[in-house]
Amino acid sequence: MHFIPEALDEYVVAHTEDEPELLQQLTRETFQKILQPRMLSGHYQGRLLSMISKIINPKSILEIGTYTGYSALCLAEGLQEHGVLHTIDINEELVDFQRKYFDISPYGSQIHQHLGDATEIIPELDLTYDLVFIDADKPNYVNYFHLIVDRLNKGGILLSDNVLWSGKVIQQVKEDDLSTLALLEYNKLLKEDKRIETVLLPIRDGLTISRKL
Ligand SMILES: C[S@@+](CC[C@H](N)C(=O)[O-])C[C@H]1O[C@@H](n2cnc3c(N)ncnc32)[C@H](O)[C@@H]1O
Repeated sequence: MHFIPEALDEYVVAHTEDEPELLQQLTRETFQKILQPRMLSGHYQGRLLSMISKIINPKSILEIGTYTGYSALCLAEGLQEHGVLHTIDINEELVDFQRKYFDISPYGSQIHQHLGDATEIIPELDLTYDLVFIDADKPNYVNYFHLIVDRLNKGGILLSDNVLWSGKVIQQVKEDDLSTLALLEYNKLLKEDKRIETVLLPIRDGLTISRKL
C-alpha cells in the first residue's frame, strides 16, 4: 500500500541507497519459489532498517519473523564486529533458504536461526538486546512486547512493522478481524507504556520506532 502518491514514492526510492545485489537475488528467488513473497521488507524499508541498525551499531539484535531472511540481512549490516543477530520463524520450510543467503552474506557466522513459535523461543533465549524487530503474526504483537520489553537494553530500539495494516487501523473493524484488533491494542500499548518512548512512522505499511528509557 502506498501512503503517498505512487510517483512520489518512486522518487523517494530513486533517491535512496541502491539495493545490494545479494538482496536483489534473494528477492527474485523468493518471488520464484516461496508463497506470499510480498511479506519481505523490500528495497526501501530494507535500506531504512540497515540505516537504523548502522546508527545504533548493536551488539545484539532479535528479529521475530525471519521469512526468507531479507530484513535479517539488512539489520545485520549494522552489527558490531562480534555482534549477533537472533532471528525466529515458525515455518520450517524456510530454514534452508534463509541459511543459504545468510552464508553467502558476510554475516553468516553472526546470524543465529531459531525455528518455532517465538512466544516459546524468546524466553528460552534469555538474552538482552540493543535492537528488536517485530515482524510476525499480528495477534501476538502484544505478547511479543511483554516478552521483550525488559530484555531491551537502556536506549535500545524496538521496531514494529505493519502497524497501519493497510490503513485498517482507522476503519470500522469487524469483530473477527483479529489482526486489526491486535494492532489497535498494540499501538495503544506502545503509546502508553512508560518504559519506552514511541514514534509511529507512516512508512510503507507503518513502522513504529520505540526507544527504551
Ligand atoms: C512478514 S513475514 C517476515 C518478513 C521478514 N521480516 C522480512 O522483512 O523479510 C512474517 C513471518 O513470521 C512468521 N511467523 C508467524 N507466526 C510466527 C510465530 N508465532 N513465531 C515465529 N514466527 C512466526 C511467518 O512464518 C513469516 O515468515
